[in-house]
Amino acid sequence: MGCGTGDYLRVMAPLVAPGEATGTDLSTQLIERARQLSSVDQTNLSFRVADVYDLPFPDASFDRVTATQLMLHLSDPWTALDEMRRVLAPEGRVAIAEWDWDSTCLAVTDRDLGRRFTHLLCDQMHHGLIVRELTWRLAAHGFEQVEVVPRVQISRDLGAAFEWLIRPATRELVRTGALSEADGTRLLDDLRERAATGRYFLDRTYYVATAVTGLPLGR
Ligand SMILES: C[S@@+](CC[C@H](N)C(=O)[O-])C[C@H]1O[C@@H](n2cnc3c(N)ncnc32)[C@H](O)[C@@H]1O
Repeated sequence: MGCGTGDYLRVMAPLVAPGEATGTDLSTQLIERARQLSSVDQTNLSFRVADVYDLPFPDASFDRVTATQLMLHLSDPWTALDEMRRVLAPEGRVAIAEWDWDSTCLAVTDRDLGRRFTHLLCDQMHHGLIVRELTWRLAAHGFEQVEVVPRVQISRDLGAAFEWLIRPATRELVRTGALSEADGTRLLDDLRERAATGRYFLDRTYYVATAVTGLPLGR
């Protein structure tokens, strides 16, 4: 669900073959791109435009449902969770993976600016703290065998996380006035300087929550 350009699903599809792997996303453009990027040889892989709140699939039609970096962007992730559960077969498994944004650990020379940036970054998202609620929410929404596993990712140099996350997020915070222009520039200059002198450090934790469908709700 919310597969974007389908990068993860292309890796997962061979693991479930000859079972079918279906990627869904709200964005027509991203689904079109996912189809373009996928090999015609992956015959068990398909993509479909769909809203996770209203999936165009019958009840109990999938053995597995997975959503990575989707829930935190939704205004009502728990309604989406019910919809994911609806399309899961009995004893079907859900896997949800999200970063915990408020514990982003970034080395910034001005520690107050660094702390402020982490909190502002988290609060830019609808649900930047969603992983902290996943365990009880999965149980409350009728799932069993709930497990949450952390995965730590450390970056020692500027890379995708700087280019696609820190830099654009800083610009957005400056645009909205949450961060002053001077602080935004100071932060990015500091990170570049730290990277150039081998002092860059970014550590983020990604949590993977898995659970199995139990009895239908209300029974
Ligand atoms: C941050 S991207 C994650 C993409 C991919 N899952 C990944 O981890 O690389 C979030 C995706 O959720 C999709 N999305 C947002 N709201 C959605 C909704 N209501 N239903 C389905 N997809 C949605 C967006 O179009 C976007 O592709």
